[in-house]
Amino acid sequence: MLTGKNIVLGVTGGIAAYKAAEIVRLLVQEGAIVRVIMSKNAQEFITPLTLQTLSGNPVSTETFSLTQESQIGHIRLADTADLVLIAPATANVIAKLAHGLADDLLTTVLLATTAPVLIAPAMNVHMYAHPLVQENLRKLASLGYRIIEPTEGFLACGYEGKGRLAEPGDIVEEVRAALTPKDLQGERIIVTAGPNAEPIDPVRFISNRSTGKMGFAMARVAWRRGAEVTLVSGPTALPPPRGVRFLAVRTAREMQQAVLQHYPQATIVVSAAAIADYRPVHVAPQKIKKGEGTVVLELTRNPDVLAELGQQKGNRLLVGFATETEEVVQNAVRKLRSKNLDLIVANDVTQEGAGFAVDTNIVTLIDRTGKIEALPRLSKDEVASIIYDRLLALKASPNVPEHC
Ligand code: CTP
Repeated sequence: MLTGKNIVLGVTGGIAAYKAAEIVRLLVQEGAIVRVIMSKNAQEFITPLTLQTLSGNPVSTETFSLTQESQIGHIRLADTADLVLIAPATANVIAKLAHGLADDLLTTVLLATTAPVLIAPAMNVHMYAHPLVQENLRKLASLGYRIIEPTEGFLACGYEGKGRLAEPGDIVEEVRAALTPKDLQGERIIVTAGPNAEPIDPVRFISNRSTGKMGFAMARVAWRRGAEVTLVSGPTALPPPRGVRFLAVRTAREMQQAVLQHYPQATIVVSAAAIADYRPVHVAPQKIKKGEGTVVLELTRNPDVLAELGQQKGNRLLVGFATETEEVVQNAVRKLRSKNLDLIVANDVTQEGAGFAVDTNIVTLIDRTGKIEALPRLSKDEVASIIYDRLLALKASPNVPEHC
């Protein structure tokens, strides 16, 4: 996602400066060109050599170093940046920026750049809560600076509370979002993800092999593109994506309830969950003890959530996923029609690099006009992105005649 993007990372003097190393590593791994500027105090916590080695670019430290200016001048740093990130940002750099001061290289670049600027504060809990720091942050936010809030936890200064630098992975996710056009702004999207767990007794359940990766990618990408996202997820091992409203459920009926509750406000529903078609008729109140002979588990049908949404669709766009092992396209087309969908993503889980527990997928998209598009093996984020592109195109041409 970040291939070829020029990112200037400003590192200022706090103990969290060591986390800048991980941020640089993550950005470089995604193809970004990272140029680091360190304040004087930052160099007390981590050496320029560390960040230079990880970024593969010289680290700038002073405003008027003749050597540094001859390599890349401060105005060029500001002009070529696609994005400027300050992580960690101390109370001092936040105050300087809020008051338009430019007394070192980083603050000079901050005033000279027209690129988006992200600020990830990290400091002592009382400093962060100080009304002056809060006023400065509010002022910066009102001017369009994006503040990546610190998290709560144990701080290096011995206190516990809000002031820890946001996790490097979350900071990089904010960078991706800031560089993504907001073409889903105004959309309210419900995404379902993961498996269901239908209880048999207090310690057992029936489930399926879904890991939630495709649904989480659908939620993540929608948030990056500016949508308001509600992710209704069955049990998975994945952390909730940044920026989305996360609702954890277990059974198909809990999923149905959560979706129906948010459906009236939704403009798009993406049903990526592997919703359980059946549940045990009886849930034993105590653990079932083993005995002689076989056990028969009687199952009853669960509601078809997506079909129910299709019956009360209004102007919404509905996307389904068809997990198949044979006659992939035919089965998917049947589901598209019977559930009144706009797009179905057919997924042959027998192919290598597709389906459960992998970061890639090989899918065929079939839309309500009958158009069939087979995509190559792509990352799940890329697949998600193409699905939203096709949805926006469908939205723009609501009355296209059917191909079949
Ligand atoms: N789905 C649903 N409720 C169910 C089962 C599935 O809303 N009880 C949704 C899934 O989230 C998916 C789509 O319907 O978007 C197709 O799911 P899939 O399991 O492929 O198909 P089913 O309709 O269950 O049909 P079958 O099991 O016969 O393949």
